[in-house]
Amino acid sequence: MTEFERLVDIIAGARPNFMKIAPIVRAIRGGSRGVACRIVHTGQHYDRSMSGDFFEQLGIPSPDANLEVGSGTQAEQTAAVMVRYERLLLDRPPAICLVVGDVNSTMACAIASRKLGVPVAHVEGGLRSGDPSMPEEINRLVTDSISNWFFTTSRGANGNLRREGVGEDRLFLVGNTMIDTLLANLDRLRPPSFWDASGLEAGRYCVLTLHRPGNVDLAPRFLELLRGVAASAQPDRVVFPAHPRVARTLESLGPLPPNLLVVPPQPYLEFNHLVRHARVVVTDSGGVTEETTVLGVPCMTLRDSTERPETVEIGTNELVGTDPAAIPAAFHRLRSGGWKRGGIPEFWDGRAGERIAAHLASLLGT
Ligand code: UD1
Repeated sequence: MTEFERLVDIIAGARPNFMKIAPIVRAIRGGSRGVACRIVHTGQHYDRSMSGDFFEQLGIPSPDANLEVGSGTQAEQTAAVMVRYERLLLDRPPAICLVVGDVNSTMACAIASRKLGVPVAHVEGGLRSGDPSMPEEINRLVTDSISNWFFTTSRGANGNLRREGVGEDRLFLVGNTMIDTLLANLDRLRPPSFWDASGLEAGRYCVLTLHRPGNVDLAPRFLELLRGVAASAQPDRVVFPAHPRVARTLESLGPLPPNLLVVPPQPYLEFNHLVRHARVVVTDSGGVTEETTVLGVPCMTLRDSTERPETVEIGTNELVGTDPAAIPAAFHRLRSGGWKRGGIPEFWDGRAGERIAAHLASLLGT
């Protein structure tokens, strides 16, 4: 960094953050706008399969600081990030702290920054599921209530923030950095190592991701969902990359449906290859519904709400809900050719990272 550059901290903690920061880091470090960045990894996700693989595949430079907070309860994890990030801030305060998404690290770093007088920019600000039983919704509400600027993915997000009293001068509709990463890597997607051995064929399998506490923490409920999806998907296989939080519960479930293929968490390029060629994706994630929308793959969300309504209104996503009894009807619609084709939301064009870097430069007056 030269003496003329202004420093922006870029915070990443958990898996869904890494694909969001990659294009921002690239745009800042690849440009000559007088902005420098310090990559701060909080260590919320620490396994190679949840973190290291993503840095490597997406070409994200190694973090400049790793807070190594690891796992814990909601409060323990949030507190650990705040305490450790505060030390870094006191040691060398940046001009702006940039947080992405809605994980515990996002909220924790936003709070620590504002309390020390460092302004906060929130990438993906303004999303609201309206369901405060999700930890991510609390993280969104708290982060947005103290952020100075918002880099948003949709007009709907801007509308939510306006209703909460945010003025136009703090709102920047930039598009979706997660989609920047997807579009930049489309040609690099590649089949996972188990593809050939397990006899998967494009268009003839289903991808399943489930990790929300409400769906997976109680074993009987989790098993009912797995059985419901596997039975409805017949004769297709159901490929289920299991997040660490579900791997332990899975072991206690006893025999699983024979067409369910449980695999470890997949690296970025392999996971999106699976998604791109699936007949359908069934998920309780938010980010995955954006990727299926852009890839034009039918998506069933096993939740009652979404903070990303454009994936339903414009894209290929449908809220099926959390009652396993609703799953067969959704598959019936899919098989009878009644699934919507979907379109792509405006500004999801692969240039969000560039727009963010340009706004940061003008906010910093460089
Ligand atoms: C977090 C985010 C969620 C995001 C998800 C994606 C919050 C509140 N939630 O949920 O928004 O969709 O990440 O993955 O921030 N674990 C490992 N290895 C790891 C990471 C986690 O074994 O590398 C284990 C932890 O020990 C813990 C469990 O997975 O038992 C949950 O991890 P945690 O980061 O607390 O929350 P997630 O459920 O992953």
